[in-house]
Formats: sequence, C-alpha cells, structure tokens
Amino acid sequence: MKLIDLYAKLKKDISYIEKELERSIDVDNDLLREASLHLLKAGGKRIRPVFVLLGAKFGTYDLARIKHVAVPLELIHMASLVHDDVIDDALTRRGQLTVRSKWDNRIAMYTGDYIFAKALSVVTQLPNPLIHQIMSKAIVEMSIGEMEQIRYFFNADQTFRDYLLRIKRKTALLIAISCQLGAIAAGAGEAASKSLYTYGYNVGMAFQVRDDILDLCGTEKEIGKPPGSDIRQGNITVPVIFALQDKSLRPGLLNEIQRIQQLDGQTDISGFIRTIRGSNGITRAEELASRYIDKAIAALEPLPDIQAKKDFTGIAHFIGNRSY
Ligand code: IPE
Ligand code: IPE
Ligand code: MG
Ligand code: MG
Repeated sequence: MKLIDLYAKLKKDISYIEKELERSIDVDNDLLREASLHLLKAGGKRIRPVFVLLGAKFGTYDLARIKHVAVPLELIHMASLVHDDVIDDALTRRGQLTVRSKWDNRIAMYTGDYIFAKALSVVTQLPNPLIHQIMSKAIVEMSIGEMEQIRYFFNADQTFRDYLLRIKRKTALLIAISCQLGAIAAGAGEAASKSLYTYGYNVGMAFQVRDDILDLCGTEKEIGKPPGSDIRQGNITVPVIFALQDKSLRPGLLNEIQRIQQLDGQTDISGFIRTIRGSNGITRAEELASRYIDKAIAALEPLPDIQAKKDFTGIAHFIGNRSY
C-alpha cells in the first residue's frame, strides 16, 4: 500500500487536523506567524497525527476531542525540526529553506519554542493529566536524545547500542506515544493502548533507521535536503557503524571521518558515501529496519480486526521501504 492511498480514506479528517494546525499557530506577531507557517506549509508526511487518528479508532472516535492530541504531536515534531536544523546548520527541509536559513538562528530558536508552547496550550485543553505526563516525558527524552547525538558527533567508537538508545529517544518514543495517545484520548482500553505503543516504538525505530539509510542513499529530490547531511555534521549512523565493523574498510573510513571533522563538513564527501554504499552496512541496516517492522506488525496481533489495524500494517510496510 502507498501512503497516499491510505491517506485517501482519512482525507477529510486529515484536512480538518490541517486547518486546526494552522489555527493553532496563528499569532498576533508577523514574524512568529510567518516563520511557523513556513514550515507547516512546506508539507511533510503528517505521520504522527495520522497515527493518532488511527489509534483513536480503537476507542470512541471523536475528532473534536482527538485533535487535542493529534495537533500537539505534529507541533512537537515541528518544533524539534526547527531546532534540529539549527544544530545541523541545515539549509533545506521538506524541499524548502529552513527557518534558520530563511531568517536566522535566533528566530529559529524562538520559533521552535513558540511552536512547543502552542503544543502545550492545545493538549492542556484536555483535562487528562496522564496524557500531559506521557507527552512531557517524551519531550524530555527527545531532548536527551538530541544532546546524546551532539555528544557522539564524530565518535567512531560508539556502539550499536549507543545508536539504538539515541534513536529510541530522539524519534521512536514520539511515534510510540502518537499511537498510544490516540487510543488513550479515545478511551480505548489499556491493552489496546499498550499494543499500539509497542507497535509505534518498533515502527519509530525502523523509521529512523530508514531515515539514516536515505541520508546516504537517497536523492536530494526524495529527501528534501542534500544527501550526506548526517556525516557532514558528525552524526555517525547505523550503516556507518556497521561498515566500520568491516576490518578492510575501517582504517580508510576512520581517516575519512577525521578529515570531514577537521574540514568542518566543508569538504567533498562523495568518497565516503561511495564506500558506505559499497559496504554491507546498507544491507545490514535494511535488515535491521525490516526486523523492527516485523515486530511492529506482530504487536498489532491482539488488537481487534478493524480497518485501522490493516492501515497500521500498511503504514508499517510503507515505512520499512520508504524513500521519502
Ligand atoms: C524527520 O521526520 C525527522 C525524523 C524523525 C527522522 P519526518 O520524516 O516525519 O519529517 P516530515 O514531517 O515528513 O517532514
Ligand atoms: C530526527 O533526526 C530529528 C529529530 C528527532 C528532531 P534527523 O536529524 O535524522 O532528522 P533529519 O534527517 O534532519 O530530518
Ligand atoms: Mg537533522
Ligand atoms: Mg536524518
């Protein structure tokens, strides 16, 4: 199944959420409004709100209530992207200029803060402390994950486990709670929300592994930014960790990584990318992603056989192979 086919069924609800997203960031300050709308209008897959909607199908589906979870989850994601692009000095995102390059880093920091704050103002309209707690805990973990990423920049001795823990924090948990909170906000039982959390965690891990593969193997058109951005900034991802385990490649790769670090990313990285693409690191990372997808689909097993279960399965397959 293609993502677009699945979205067709949810079209009406997604366009409602889309309008609510726009409304949520409206503000009486031109700069804040323009900068936050800029990223929103640049598009994006909206996978987190879609997970919320699908999760809610296991309970009482009331869009006017569920939007208080769907909107903030996309906003939290967006805020983290605005900040992430500052850390990465990224020029483009979603095929458009980043907030930091269209305006500047200072504007991006406050735009990110503003979008985060709006996420809180929307979710706190639901008088459900459990939802607030789950969401704030995930934001804390994301911050730790992003800090860990900086700490490990250009560290070629980091382990596979270091990588897994980091991507769990920075990416998988937010996706896990998107699935879980949809169910909780719709009053689905605890068993359903737990299964959905496990599904989302595994899909989220696969999602980031795929993202890291795409950064090395995708085209600029597919990924909306230049390939190789990760290594330029020092982010050593799983295909590279695997390639470094190959004794015949390790010495050359270590040299390359050191050279990229010394030249502050302002260097030709095509040799590095070629080496990684030619190593078994990509195939091993693909196998890793597909193991997570299998686990995600297995987690759905106890759930009732409704259409949303098929849709969750379809999205898992999409994510396992995604090229954007
Ligand atoms: C990008 O997320 C950042 C990661 C967690 C890998 P998405 O791939 O969901 O970004 P958009 O929202 O579709 O642009
Ligand atoms: C996800 O990681 C960023 C956040 C969780 C904020 P990436 O750094 O891989 O995201 P992209 O590749 O810049 O979209
Ligand atoms: Mg990034
Ligand atoms: Mg990436």
